[in-house]
Amino acid sequence: MNDIAVETRFLHAIELGLGAWQWGDRIWWQYGRTHTEEDVRAAFDVSIAEGIRFIDTAEVYGSGNSERLLGKFIRESEQPAVIATKFFPFPWRLTKNAFPRALKHSLERLGAESVDLYQVHSPSPLLSIDRMAEGLALCVEEGLTRTVGVSNFDPTQTLSAYSALARLKVPLAANQVHYSLLNRSVEKNGLLARCHELGIRLIAYSPLEMGMLTGKYSPRQAPSGPRAAQYASLLHRLAPLLKVMTDIGQDHGGKSNGQVALNWVICKGALPIPGAKNAEQAEQNAGALGWRLTEEDVTRLDEASDQLLGLPKT
Ligand SMILES: NC(=O)c1ccc[n+]([C@@H]2O[C@H](COP(=O)([O-])OP(=O)(O)OC[C@H]3O[C@@H](n4cnc5c(N)ncnc54)[C@H](OP(=O)(O)O)[C@@H]3O)[C@@H](O)[C@H]2O)c1
Repeated sequence: MNDIAVETRFLHAIELGLGAWQWGDRIWWQYGRTHTEEDVRAAFDVSIAEGIRFIDTAEVYGSGNSERLLGKFIRESEQPAVIATKFFPFPWRLTKNAFPRALKHSLERLGAESVDLYQVHSPSPLLSIDRMAEGLALCVEEGLTRTVGVSNFDPTQTLSAYSALARLKVPLAANQVHYSLLNRSVEKNGLLARCHELGIRLIAYSPLEMGMLTGKYSPRQAPSGPRAAQYASLLHRLAPLLKVMTDIGQDHGGKSNGQVALNWVICKGALPIPGAKNAEQAEQNAGALGWRLTEEDVTRLDEASDQLLGLPKT
């Protein structure tokens, strides 16, 4: 690796992003039935207008359609966005050259010359950390991405990735993992603390727990698609946590449950990237900014979530 200064600080200055898995994905998110291109364009426009410029996509979202839509919206709006996309470690393309090759395909779909963050979507037993680091470093060297990251890496894998990249003089900029009031494993397994120590931005996916934390679903009002089965049992236990969230939201001038859920993630020092299907959702989610939960609020939310999850108090 030649001496290329890779600057990752910009990621730490971003408080809130936007997830684009919903854009073009029919199987999980029912694109075409619950929302259309017009809707997701409006979600993009509203987010940009609200100052949210960090948008997360992946080559596999909607089989490339999420990247295509995002590229189209950026070009047509002529608005600067901070783009994060992902490499999926399919077993048939695990050489180091596969990384820049895949990223070039993503860039074609995005209509961009480079992205701001290129993440490995998940660890793979077939992909050694050293090979992965070499592939990511090539992407930086070729000017295809500003920074690199991983996703779904546990604390040990994160440390290995950090060290392997450091040997190539590339910083590990981010680890994107599941983190919400209903999934706090990153607190319990030490990943959040480790990322803070090492200057790795922890990006929180599913921060609304796929919509469950907005309060709009209940055992009687189940979500559509695969979420119905996944969250059936949780929805029976959710009411006490939602009640605490609603009370706290009231104390802050009527913030919604979703806004409380996102603000809680921000208070923990992570970057939430809620997915939005339309303008209304994007607008609501943007309302997580501009105010802060108190330390006492965070403690009350932690306790309510611990109780629900059946975890010992921290
Ligand atoms: N790296 C990974 O492995 C990975 C995994 C998952 C997600 N991600 C990324 O993280 C992003 C966010 O995660 P996610 O999409 O799984 O879950 P999420 O952000 O927790 O939930 C998104 C869903 O919640 C509902 N929603 C959003 N805002 C709302 C609002 N204001 N009011 C009411 N409902 C609202 C919408 O679904 P309905 O309207 O249908 O309820 C929306 O599709 C994704 O878009 C993707 O970019 C990454």
